[in-house]
Amino acid sequence: MNNSVNIADIRKDYKLAALDEETAGLDPFVFFSKWFSEAEAAQITEINAMTLATVDIRMQPHARIVLLKGLDSEGFVFFTNYESAKGREIESSPHVALVFFWKELERQVRIEGYIEKIDEAESNAYFQSRPAGSRIGAWASPQSKKIAHRSIIELNYAKYQEEFPDLNIPRPEHWGGYRVMPHHIEFWQGRTSRMHDRILFEKNDTGNWERHRLAP
Ligand SMILES: Cc1cc2nc3c(=O)[nH]c(=O)nc-3n(C[C@H](O)[C@H](O)[C@H](O)COP(=O)(O)O)c2cc1C
Repeated sequence: MNNSVNIADIRKDYKLAALDEETAGLDPFVFFSKWFSEAEAAQITEINAMTLATVDIRMQPHARIVLLKGLDSEGFVFFTNYESAKGREIESSPHVALVFFWKELERQVRIEGYIEKIDEAESNAYFQSRPAGSRIGAWASPQSKKIAHRSIIELNYAKYQEEFPDLNIPRPEHWGGYRVMPHHIEFWQGRTSRMHDRILFEKNDTGNWERHRLAP
């Protein structure tokens, strides 16, 4: 590759902050909310973008970005097409991972857990909150399927616009939310000389969170 910079020379020393046990507290959901608020206050764009990793029946991992759309005491919610590649992978293995990277704060959060569909009522409510164009798009796109040409989804889009002219657009059954219920949440704060801070919360057999420090 003929790059203007040598990729191997790209490096950054992390100096912004430290992370200690006292700051992390005892509840990873409370601490996640705190970091999320701090990312919001820092005006980071798309702070709710997270990498979702799934695994298929051949144990091949797949990763892509999705948007966090809800957080409650049970877990992390996002929306997608249930018949997409990720939907099929989740069907065969409900064990997934999420990663947030807030580079402006030199922070990463890694989440591992079990995933399941959210209630239909919850999916309906969120679907109806979306702009009409996105709702039509959910009908028009057979997500992850191979298509011969872009015109296929554009024709589909026009077809559904005609089908739902009054903007009364119901949620397609193949579209809805998933909730990731974590058993591992790790908070990573970059530090100088690669001596980063890593605080891991692990759910034990009694359902309580245990906190550990990991070597960077
Ligand atoms: C910033 C960003 C946000 C995205 N948000 C979503 C999302 O919330 N839901 C979704 O299904 N796809 C989202 N995508 C698209 C996915 O990354 C992916 O292309 C799509 O879901 C198909 O993935 P799959 O074929 O592995 O199922 C987003 C992509 C980007 C770059």
